[in-house]
Amino acid sequence: MYNASMAMADPSWKAFLERIEHAESREELLRIEHELFGRKSGVMTLKMKELQAISPEERPKYAKELNTWKQKLSQALEEAAARLTIPADTVLASHDTLDVTLDLPERERGHLHPIQEFLRHVEEVFGRMGFDVATGPEVETEELNFTMLNIPESHPARDAQDTFWIKSAKKGKDRLVLRTHTSPVQIRYMRTHKPPFRAIFPGKVYRKDADATHSPMFHQFEGFMVGKDITLANMKAVMIAAITQLIPGEVEFRFRTGYFPFVEPGLELDVRWQGEDKTKEGDWLEIVGCGMVHPTVLRNGGLDPEEWQGFAFGFGADRMAMIRHQIPDIRSLFPGDVRFLRQF
Ligand code: PHE
Repeated sequence: MYNASMAMADPSWKAFLERIEHAESREELLRIEHELFGRKSGVMTLKMKELQAISPEERPKYAKELNTWKQKLSQALEEAAARLTIPADTVLASHDTLDVTLDLPERERGHLHPIQEFLRHVEEVFGRMGFDVATGPEVETEELNFTMLNIPESHPARDAQDTFWIKSAKKGKDRLVLRTHTSPVQIRYMRTHKPPFRAIFPGKVYRKDADATHSPMFHQFEGFMVGKDITLANMKAVMIAAITQLIPGEVEFRFRTGYFPFVEPGLELDVRWQGEDKTKEGDWLEIVGCGMVHPTVLRNGGLDPEEWQGFAFGFGADRMAMIRHQIPDIRSLFPGDVRFLRQF
């Protein structure tokens, strides 16, 4: 007959409890759990079965005793399992898991050079006023760069001091130069389009010049507007509208007479704007050459000056970008130093 005091007297429950409390891994815990509650040979499972053999009078007492141990051991197993569970942040660090809160270093993106960015802005501003955009070659014929623009042989711009001549087999009027201004695109445009028209011609130009405000390669944007009755008043309006949008802040304008062989009359436009603190005025700065297109130039472009007239202008783009970004030295714009370029 089954010894009814056996369950109570069995000291192994305490030992199990201690083993559970000191378990050092989840594997160890699983082994203990199996020893206790395994379906076939678990110590607790077998003891529960043995209860059947106890007389009905005595059974409740032992059943209660056994259930108490069963609960204690189950709870101990649960607590130990929690203790041996790997904390959540360790899981994130040690597994390939998506952490949406993690800040990654920003990916570096490039951007347009301040001059190119400025020229895009120019295209946008003139585009809104209905101007087309066209370009011409940087290696130009002497004919188009000078002669067709009414620039006489004796003009200082043709001088070796200013112009980069290209060594080539071509002689005479086909001699090649690095264009000294964007004005030859006027002739190219007139010869390929039907008036009336208005267009701008942005691009690089070259002159033998180098100091804080001159670089041997720089940028201009040329433009013209030709029609039956385009006047100097239209020119003034377009210049002021464009510059107001291209230079931030309040700008003052000063039109002066100036000489360019390809316009008559010719003007120079100076601008002056207030300092950031609105107290001191800056210096007058010449940024545009302009005027009414010379009849000879219209003729060279294939237009009849009795029928067509218009204005032309040439902006120094680098100088305007320098004003816009407050860059003191033009030479810092072109070496491609990213420490400089990153600022814009
Ligand atoms: N081509 C002239 C220059 O480079 C600028 C200009 C353009 C002047 C058009 C008048 C008209 O200085």
